[in-house]
Amino acid sequence: MAANKTLKIGDVSLQGKFLLAPMSGVTNSIFRRIVRKYGAALVFSEVISAEGLVRGNFRTLRMLRFREEERPISIQLLGSDPQVMAQAAQIVSRFNPDFIDLNFGCPARKVTGKGAGASLLRDINLSRRIIEAVVRATPIPVTLKMRIGWDSRSIVALQLAKLAEDCGIRGVIIHGRTASQKFSGEASLEMIGRVKEEVSIPVIGNGDVNSPERARKMILTTGCDGVMIGRGALGNPWIFLQAQAYLRGEEPPQPPSLKEKIKLCLAHYRMALEEMGEFKAVREMRKNISWYTKGLPQGSTLRKEIYEMERSAEVMRRLSLYQKSVVTGGVCGFG
Ligand SMILES: Cc1cc2nc3c(=O)[nH]c(=O)nc-3n(C[C@H](O)[C@H](O)[C@H](O)COP(=O)(O)O)c2cc1C
Repeated sequence: MAANKTLKIGDVSLQGKFLLAPMSGVTNSIFRRIVRKYGAALVFSEVISAEGLVRGNFRTLRMLRFREEERPISIQLLGSDPQVMAQAAQIVSRFNPDFIDLNFGCPARKVTGKGAGASLLRDINLSRRIIEAVVRATPIPVTLKMRIGWDSRSIVALQLAKLAEDCGIRGVIIHGRTASQKFSGEASLEMIGRVKEEVSIPVIGNGDVNSPERARKMILTTGCDGVMIGRGALGNPWIFLQAQAYLRGEEPPQPPSLKEKIKLCLAHYRMALEEMGEFKAVREMRKNISWYTKGLPQGSTLRKEIYEMERSAEVMRRLSLYQKSVVTGGVCGFG
């Protein structure tokens, strides 16, 4: 049964079935280190422009950096020119990640307007040329992340997954929506299941998994080999261990307490400060704090105050105070 089988992509056996999705502006080295510690079986970089790498853009090249403790890690590339994608794959290969992933799913207009991301779902010929060029250019196993088609009248997931397998792709990740759906509607489990029936390489399902129950349901209903989790991991790295336990048939571990959430949030803050310096860290952490404190008592008041703070020491003091007062019952009177 798919639920018990070890997920192996290429020659790499993963410890678990739950993968962190690539998320631009989120899945930097710090976040990846955190979720690896909390049980993600594989982490992905933010999407990286192949053009930027080939042009030697400093900021793009800097995105390739990762630490050993993040392994196994996949670096995701975006582009529409087979030669540029191949050259970019060679540059990435020097950093020796465990996988290279190709982005055939980004629906943003600034990306599809240049023929990249989900736009490739409309051009199977160009897709083939990109896949072939990249697979030829690197010894590192290559995976493909895609949506199921451009729109509901042009579903290409089966055709493209098959083609990808024939061209040497080692695993496909299917976000069960069309590009034109963006994030609306529900991800189609049916299409993920059909792709699984069509190919022999590992199929990773993706879309709307925000609980251990949904993670298990995706595996059991589609037969997919693994599940990729994006938004469900924001401020919530615990989801990976919870999903893994639930899939094994155990009760999922207790959800983290408020104290644990703020503790991790503070640890995340310190990592950001160390890596980015005060100005960037304060800004970077605002969205993360929002995610960590989502649904917590008096969270919105806390967030409003923190959004106006410019000094990290002030933010961290406020978070600690919040943690103490809530735990002792001061903020909302429970305890
Ligand atoms: C903030 C954000 C940034 C994203 N950036 C990327 C990206 O860089 N590359 C990519 O392939 N998908 C990207 N995605 C899509 C996710 O990887 C994933 O396919 C999608 O969110 C559906 O999964 P989920 O419902 O678990 O979030 C992004 C999604 C979000 C919310």
